[in-house]
Amino acid sequence: MTPVEMALHPLSASKQLLNELNSTSIHSLTVFFCFLTLLLFMLNQTKTRRSKKSNLPPSPPKLPIIGNLHQLGTLPHRSFHALSSKYGPLMFLQLGQTPTLVVSSFDVAKDIYRTHDVAFSNKPQTTAVKMIMYGCMDVAFAPYSEEWRQKRKICVLELLSMKRVRSFQPIREEEVALMLDGIREACAGKSSCVNLTEMLIETSNNIMSRCVLGRKYDTSDGRISFGELGRKMMKHLATFTVGDFFPSLGWVDFLTGQIAEFKATFSALDAFFDQLVAERKRMKMEINGQSDDDKDFVDILLQIQEGGKHDFQLTQNDVKAILMDIFAGGSDTTSTLLEWVFAALLRNPDTMKKVQEEVRRVVGHKSKVDENDLSKMNYLSCVVKETLRLYPPAPLLIPRETLSDVKVKGFDIPSKTRVFVNAWAIQRDPEIWDRPEEFLPERFEKQPEVDFRGNDFQLIPFGSGRRGCIGISFAMASTEYMLANLLYWFDWKLTGSAASMQDVDMSEIWGLTVIKKVPLHLQPTLYKP
Ligand SMILES: *[C@@H]1O[C@H](CO)[C@@H](O)[C@H](O)[C@H]1NC(C)=O
Repeated sequence: MTPVEMALHPLSASKQLLNELNSTSIHSLTVFFCFLTLLLFMLNQTKTRRSKKSNLPPSPPKLPIIGNLHQLGTLPHRSFHALSSKYGPLMFLQLGQTPTLVVSSFDVAKDIYRTHDVAFSNKPQTTAVKMIMYGCMDVAFAPYSEEWRQKRKICVLELLSMKRVRSFQPIREEEVALMLDGIREACAGKSSCVNLTEMLIETSNNIMSRCVLGRKYDTSDGRISFGELGRKMMKHLATFTVGDFFPSLGWVDFLTGQIAEFKATFSALDAFFDQLVAERKRMKMEINGQSDDDKDFVDILLQIQEGGKHDFQLTQNDVKAILMDIFAGGSDTTSTLLEWVFAALLRNPDTMKKVQEEVRRVVGHKSKVDENDLSKMNYLSCVVKETLRLYPPAPLLIPRETLSDVKVKGFDIPSKTRVFVNAWAIQRDPEIWDRPEEFLPERFEKQPEVDFRGNDFQLIPFGSGRRGCIGISFAMASTEYMLANLLYWFDWKLTGSAASMQDVDMSEIWGLTVIKKVPLHLQPTLYKP
């Protein structure tokens, strides 16, 4: 298990700890461990006594040492939701040695993002994140600082601006065309069934890879399999190690080999980026006058590094950390979201019919979906919004950490508290949403002003405030374009045992992004405009 998984999934952390200890089967280690546990316990007691004065938010009863770790279950967003319906929208947990705040209402989220955003602007630095992100020199996981602010600005202005996102349209068109060809082939073939999950992952990764690195690296070209490494990195980023919950037990991570595993992935990725940058610098001397629209993220970052246009000097490690960040943020999220869109549409045939009618009406007989068509597909955007509401790809967002002591709704939140905002729970809150458990894109036709970009605290799939996601436009461009094409060109049916629409399996698997447990195997039929 990787550190991000562990960060988000503390129970497995403790389970893993037990497993590892069992397998080590060193008697003396066990004795030592018991001794340490006792020490920790005593330490804990003194801490609790010291903090008696402060008015912490309500918390469920905790066990010695592990605190509330055992209450997390396999799907933490659901466990947090269940706990907070008992203990309130501002709930304090002790996850191992880590004080943790769980936020589960619109009202508290608004206070945090609007009134106390700075106090909540740090990020917890787990073992894996520190190792993979060059000591958190990236944007997503960096500590709150002036340096972070400068790098974020560079990403917002240079990499993820609307203009830049538009310049990648030819890449999206080519990659989506390849996906459509694959599906057409399946339609013509005998079994006529496609693994849509696989196609969505491949296509969104290819788009990402070409925008960032200039070409696809998925097929191993004798040097390195970037796809494989990327998947490992994502796994690591979602892992919480033992040391992340019990800082004084950080040495266990060395014993379990976890640290060595992170190091191996990091070294391979680092070497890959070094080689890429060196190659690019060499090429630049050969070819001059590349048009601005042809640039990928590596070109742009290297140009910024040379140009001195910004009053901040990017080091080589900064460049690599930013690339790492963009891969982590952009690779799984798009395909996961699209998978949920399809699953929801298959369960709601009337909605499927309505959105397909809109797409086909707007595109007409052009037999090509234009990027401009997307802005006229109002219902399609409501379908995407409703999916982001019910199935947010990252239900607990990226955790934050308090920078200082802060008072929220009369409660004292200590400095260095890990903070989870349960977007999943807020987006299903019956106090705010009418029939919250139902998939009803129409609700956004009636309330077109409610948006997911972080200004409406009832819908925050990308977070909000200073540490909100900066890649929304990039993600949406791929999502909507892929979706419109798949809906325009094909009619979709379930295959195999899923006889009726109600049988679409909606189970989740926990990770940095929550994915569908059962991949989508569907039967497409070609639509003839
Ligand atoms: C479909 O694709 C997913 C994702 O790549 C994969 O995990 C699954 O095994 C595939 N299903 C089959 C039957 O190949």
